[in-house]
Amino acid sequence: MTVGTAGFDFIDLDPVQETFLDAALDGLSRPLKRIPCRFLYDARGSELFERICELPEYYPTRTELGILGAHAREMAALIGPDCELVEFGSGASRKVRLLLDALERPRGYVAIDISRDHLRAAAASIARDYPALRVTAVAADYMQPLPLPRAEGPRVGFFPGSTIGNLGHGEARRFLAHWARELAGGGMLVGVDLKKDESVLNAAYNDAAGVTAEFNLNLLARMNRELGADFDLDGFRHHAFYCHDRGRIEIYMESLRAQEASLGGRRFRFAEGELVHTENSHKFTIEEFRTLAAGAGFRPAAVWTDPARLFSVHYLAA
Ligand code: AVJ
Repeated sequence: MTVGTAGFDFIDLDPVQETFLDAALDGLSRPLKRIPCRFLYDARGSELFERICELPEYYPTRTELGILGAHAREMAALIGPDCELVEFGSGASRKVRLLLDALERPRGYVAIDISRDHLRAAAASIARDYPALRVTAVAADYMQPLPLPRAEGPRVGFFPGSTIGNLGHGEARRFLAHWARELAGGGMLVGVDLKKDESVLNAAYNDAAGVTAEFNLNLLARMNRELGADFDLDGFRHHAFYCHDRGRIEIYMESLRAQEASLGGRRFRFAEGELVHTENSHKFTIEEFRTLAAGAGFRPAAVWTDPARLFSVHYLAA
């Protein structure tokens, strides 16, 4: 561990990250082509995601902020005093601030993120604005089981944004089961997007301004920029729809014609209409999510939602 000059401790667990090149070569070699969604977030992708959060159709971010703003005191009361808050991912500093402001004498704040740059920036800004708080940055892949340094008191996880919706149900269950053990004696606050009218869901991932399309197709632009690929950016379109049976938004890049592209010394063929899967975003009913959490060993203790029941924030006791 290094004690940084920026007012926070930095623990590097040396996350092994599959490179973008390996993931793209593997994903594009499959019969059903795919690129893992974590590669959406390079600098350009993160900037586009910030813009998505401001779109009129994309309700999750502002709705979750509204829920946190309205109920942070009740959340803080459930969590209790002297807790250490552990955030999974460190992009959501507005959200964690609402919570830190409401908590009674929080003991510490731990941010876990695979991207060292995001992590340092986020930890430094929290350390600057909360000088009494002990801030620790952990460079790690929180999707892999990882040990946190020993805690001296209750510890509560914070996983906002419905990022858990990117996982399949089996993966989500394993993720929750690991953290139910690791956070025993405390709990976890999780933001979960809710099932709703399908036209609202479809609009949220097909905005009129085309920002979500650009965010998705940035994967092609990124392969061209970083990997020397030669994708025709006009040869593909964004394709996102709610699959009722699976309870999720599925996002793809669709090839508009038969074409080829080269990447890493190999040629990849795309048929007209062929899809490259880039993301799933699972939606839950409140009961479905509570059942999932209970199956992973948590005790669902409280849930808050907005008046239109678009989004939910769950407190799971561990
Ligand atoms: C960051 C995964 C929660 O699923 O709503 C937004 C990502 N993709 N628009 C979501 C996303 C397209 C977002 N999560």
